[in-house]
Amino acid sequence: MKIENALRDQYRKLARDEGYRSRSSYKLLELNKKYNILKKDDSILDIGCAPGGWLQVSKKYSDPNGKVVGIDINPVKPIQGISIIQADIEDPNIVQIIKKRFPTPFDVVLSDLSPKVSGIWHFDHERQISLSLTALQISTKILKPGGIAVFKIFQGKYSSNVKQEASKVFSKVTTSKPKASRQKSSEFYLVCSSFSGNDTIA
Ligand SMILES: C[S@@+](CC[C@H](N)C(=O)[O-])C[C@H]1O[C@@H](n2cnc3c(N)ncnc32)[C@H](O)[C@@H]1O
Repeated sequence: MKIENALRDQYRKLARDEGYRSRSSYKLLELNKKYNILKKDDSILDIGCAPGGWLQVSKKYSDPNGKVVGIDINPVKPIQGISIIQADIEDPNIVQIIKKRFPTPFDVVLSDLSPKVSGIWHFDHERQISLSLTALQISTKILKPGGIAVFKIFQGKYSSNVKQEASKVFSKVTTSKPKASRQKSSEFYLVCSSFSGNDTIA
């Protein structure tokens, strides 16, 4: 078996044994260990949250008084203590939909968004970048000043656009590739800290 496949299987088994809904959980656990993103009592919005692995990790770190909210276009099986909004983040009213239920700004926004991949790389890349830019726009409307955001990015021609835009409203933007993310896969994460509070990206 190739090392890549063995690693993927290892994380899948670990997720099953430890009760996580996805092997993606280990990517967030690793990012969190390195960057200290999730804290006790934080309010966390997870954009593109199905099946819910990142929600489980978020809940674990924000207990006992944190608030965890997930959004996905697809249904998510309920998780105790976590609120789910089933919606398309490209809905022009998405910010109002979120704020109507959760008017208090969030400490952290997470985005592990991925489109349904077609296998045609440039097309999937462009779709994913467009989703990530939408997630960034949403973040600027619902994050507290000083807040943190994490965005998954598909590497390619337009990936630097997201970093450039994020740098306008976060004082620090770091690129990271967790070990749990397959080395061959072209995804990486932007970890953005100290949100300026400016809700319009020029
Ligand atoms: C890689 S999965 C997220 C996995 C999740 N972090 C976990 O640990 O379980 C990416 C998610 O993005 C969601 N997504 C893609 N486009 C979306 C959109 N327009 N609105 C809301 N969610 C979307 C997909 O439905 C999918 O569930």
